[in-house]
Amino acid sequence: MDSPADNLSASEGDTDTEKNERSSIPPLEDNLIVISNRQPYQHCYTTDGSIEVNRPAGGLTAGLDPVMQRTNGTWVAWSDGEADAEVTDEDGTVQMPPEEEAYTLQRVWLSEEEVEGYYYGYSNRVLWPLCHGGGLKTEYVDRHWARYQQINERFADVVTDHVNSGSIVWFQDYHFSLAPRYIRNASTDTFLLHFWHITWPGWDTFRTCPHRQKLLDGLLGNDLLGFHIERYCKNFLDCVDECLDSAVVNHDDSQIHYNGQTTTVRAFPMGIDAETIQMASERMDKAFWDKFRCRYDISGKTKVVIGVDRLDYTKGISERLDALERLWTTKPEWRGELTYVQKVEKSRSLIPAYQTLQQNVKEAVERINNRFGTDEWQPVIQIENWLTEEELAGLYRHGDVLLVSAVRDGMNLVAKEYVAAQIDDPGVLVLSNQTGAHDELGESAVTINPYDTDGFAAAIESALLMDAAERQERMTTLQQRIVEQNLTTWMANILETTQRLQNGN
Ligand code: G6P
Repeated sequence: MDSPADNLSASEGDTDTEKNERSSIPPLEDNLIVISNRQPYQHCYTTDGSIEVNRPAGGLTAGLDPVMQRTNGTWVAWSDGEADAEVTDEDGTVQMPPEEEAYTLQRVWLSEEEVEGYYYGYSNRVLWPLCHGGGLKTEYVDRHWARYQQINERFADVVTDHVNSGSIVWFQDYHFSLAPRYIRNASTDTFLLHFWHITWPGWDTFRTCPHRQKLLDGLLGNDLLGFHIERYCKNFLDCVDECLDSAVVNHDDSQIHYNGQTTTVRAFPMGIDAETIQMASERMDKAFWDKFRCRYDISGKTKVVIGVDRLDYTKGISERLDALERLWTTKPEWRGELTYVQKVEKSRSLIPAYQTLQQNVKEAVERINNRFGTDEWQPVIQIENWLTEEELAGLYRHGDVLLVSAVRDGMNLVAKEYVAAQIDDPGVLVLSNQTGAHDELGESAVTINPYDTDGFAAAIESALLMDAAERQERMTTLQQRIVEQNLTTWMANILETTQRLQNGN
């Protein structure tokens, strides 16, 4: 049987150029304009007052950055770095990345009130909970909606200044539902493309939103609208069908004709840069792991189950702690034999729902540790400090089981990162059936429903007891999947579809 690592075919020492040459991303000139809320590079002051450049680790910005480096294009994003203004010119632009200056980063400045309304208020207190099916968590505040519209218009104006004939404008995510319409009204020959990185809810949920027509009208300014999986595409088509009387929805072709224009809706499951994670994992050998265990006081003999998440109520962290508590309660033989290491990153902490979650998780961890902990063993270890990409890859590599228990998640790239990092005796992926990733990886993962505490506890135990042959077999299949559908494939599929639509096919 292949070793899992054989599947990833990474060759150490490959340069970015070599990697790009191997990729099948269609050639791009200088006509790509990407818009995201988070910027790919942030300038900050160090303690001695000098300026350093920070790169947000992983995810969307890291994935798109190499593509942008080949384009001489423009990336438009909110400027959230305290020293950003010092390095940008009078138009708010700076060449990036610092070492190569390949493309233009156009920074958009937002005041505190604007961030409060557009980012915290509407994006993350309305659209985020709405799209994750949590109608009850949405908080509609008129001034937040007003700000969201205003900032979408601001971004659209900035983008319009950069548009040439033949430009491809690529929006990322739910922060920009309205901007495509504003640009479409100003320019008819620009190709507008949007990738929605989170779930799209069913009509029963979406119809609760008082701004539903405007949101759909905004998104239908796009020529191409991408979601991770078919189910979200279908939900979107249903919502348009129900909500906009004048829209003609062709469910077979996944196209919507509206306002004299056609929007094509497609599924493009996002992947990860598996080779890079594998190479990082290879460097994180037993010496790293011994040191890591020592640093976090993880006792030497226990199995290690891990969780890696942003502290978000969609990630099912409380449900996961419940399942672990159930396991240690009903199967006391696991006490002292299994340590749960939870790497979390605080997120959107100004929002009350996130503060409540942080408090609940803290209390649950304390309760479990007080209940079961001994002088030699702490059941749950929560890591809040920053880990480098290599350390994270090392944690993945050496963790015996990864728990992904999201109650709703558009994709979940952590599940894929864990798979990529398995290079020797492989671990087991326990995966919620409420994630987009489950559509791709569910068959070879151990499936859980995060709300079924008993079933979840039993799944953790079966993952821990799984024999080596089965772990290997499952991991080999999982690795084939993440290589077939990696980050390059994702981008190539989106850009090829774009080119086909531009050519009228
Ligand atoms: C999700 C969203 C991204 C967002 C990320 C982090 O993955 O889809 O658009 O950037 O969360 O959230 P934050 O609010 O910190 O940008």
